[in-house]
Amino acid sequence: KPIRIKKICCIGAGYVGGPTSAVIASKNPDIQVTVVDYNRERIEAWQTDDLPIYEPGLLDVVRAARDAKSKRTPNLFFSTDVDRCIAEADLILLSVNTPTKSLGRGAGHASELSYLESAVRKIGEVAESNKIIVEKSTVPCRAADTLRDVLAATAKPGIHFEILSNPEFLAEGTAIPNLLNPDRILIGSLKTPRGLQAAQALADVYGAWVDHDRIITINLYSSELAKLAANALLAQRISSVNALSAMCESVGADIDEVSYAIGLDKRIGSRMLKASVGFGGSCFRKDILSLAYIAESLHLFEVADYWRSIVEINEYQKDRFTRRIVRCLYNSLSGKTLAVWGFAYKKDTGDTRETAAISVVDNVLTEGANVRIYDPLVKETQIRQELKSTTSRLGCAEKQLVVCDSAYEACTGADAVIILTEWDEFSNRSEVVRRDSGHGKKTKARSERKVDWARAAEVMRRPMFVFDGRNIVDAGALEELGFRVECIGKA
Ligand code: NAD
Ligand code: UGA
Repeated sequence: KPIRIKKICCIGAGYVGGPTSAVIASKNPDIQVTVVDYNRERIEAWQTDDLPIYEPGLLDVVRAARDAKSKRTPNLFFSTDVDRCIAEADLILLSVNTPTKSLGRGAGHASELSYLESAVRKIGEVAESNKIIVEKSTVPCRAADTLRDVLAATAKPGIHFEILSNPEFLAEGTAIPNLLNPDRILIGSLKTPRGLQAAQALADVYGAWVDHDRIITINLYSSELAKLAANALLAQRISSVNALSAMCESVGADIDEVSYAIGLDKRIGSRMLKASVGFGGSCFRKDILSLAYIAESLHLFEVADYWRSIVEINEYQKDRFTRRIVRCLYNSLSGKTLAVWGFAYKKDTGDTRETAAISVVDNVLTEGANVRIYDPLVKETQIRQELKSTTSRLGCAEKQLVVCDSAYEACTGADAVIILTEWDEFSNRSEVVRRDSGHGKKTKARSERKVDWARAAEVMRRPMFVFDGRNIVDAGALEELGFRVECIGKA
């Protein structure tokens, strides 16, 4: 008999749990979806219009399912009452963080599964009825076996738990369109009757808005590995292009032209081939290191080295970018001022986890530069926190750092502009950008003027440099204003 899901509990109210649950709830009015987290502040923010994460279009989807309206009963809830919500649910989405381990065996490489384990222990303790448990978090291969083992030891007798893998492929900044129109939904299950029945129940939840031919059901362990593999291949494209960008700078080729030419081959495709100062974000690095660690623990050392080289090229690219800044500024940053435009790891997100900006800012502080940072979305406390926890220098370089409210303020007295995030407003290519609504107080669709580069030039020191870590500027136009422009992968 098919299982019909009536109540879903999502554990983890972060970048994946929040948007995914909101879309599931908005498309399934008959299913009650509750997102739980032990972080009270985060849960309270989800209950307001000042959401804890910025994601274009998110607030509209959340409001549609969360807020009472004449024709619709709310079916999206946020709560810290983890026990009750687990007990009531038929299906539980595990969307907790799985960062790189920081202690003990595998530190700096393996995935930290303790958050997942503690969520599953909790399920074992409080469940009074059968549950389908879904790995939405990105996990190492065979994590499902670990979860099954924990449940077997903690659960009350007679209760059945079926574990599915349903990895998430959304990218931040485009989470809502990605969730509404996914390339595929992957559901991994055991091929037992109960496994297949659970997979079908989850497929039916997605079937409310995703075509059936895009919902793929595969083996549980293939699904776990496919997620790590997808991120590794996406990052591998960026590292490949970034490696080529180093060659371009020496041979007089232009990496944007090279990427364009390569991407026209349908077998390659044009996406994820944009050269940059280096990829950031919470997942690429950690997932590749996790994949490499798994390979190593299987004694597949060449395989581990292959994947790890993607991360190594990324580190090289960030370093190379800083070295170029130092070289162009006459081999010394001491007493110089750098305007850093953008701190988020990509545009349209306020997320700064693993952003390339951390390494670049750390490096230039070490060289003695004064740094003035502006990011349209990231707040000063977050920038300082990120640098404090990650960089070697900030303790003694606090005075070298100023966080500014505008791109112009950042340029005051600066010798160079360093573009680290591809925010539309930094480009000099077209006029006006509209940013979508979606983040609390910034809900009114903001129409944003692009930066007026001539105005920025007025307050800078001469000679003025631009180091474009995202290749978003029209270098010729800036050169007419008197800037010396250095782009990635262009001589
Ligand atoms: P996040 O840190 O934003 O959110 C995780 C949340 O889980 C936190 O709010 C934390 O308080 C909560 N949590 C942890 N343990 C808990 C527990 N035992 N009980 C209740 N709450 C608990 O993380 P994220 O970016 O949403 O990523 C979650 C997972 O999804 C990771 O495995 C990640 O690799 C994967 N993923 C992330 C993205 C992305 O774009 N961020 C995309 C695809 C997959
Ligand atoms: C990435 C994947 O794209 C998602 O499919 C996946 O679900 C997610 O990781 C995850 O597992 O967390 P995300 O990191 O949010 O999503 O964003 P991307 O658009 O992939 O960008 C990652 C980094 O690579 C950013 O710093 C971006 O600026 C950089 N990038 C991206 C490039 O340098 N060049 C490109 O061509 C594309």
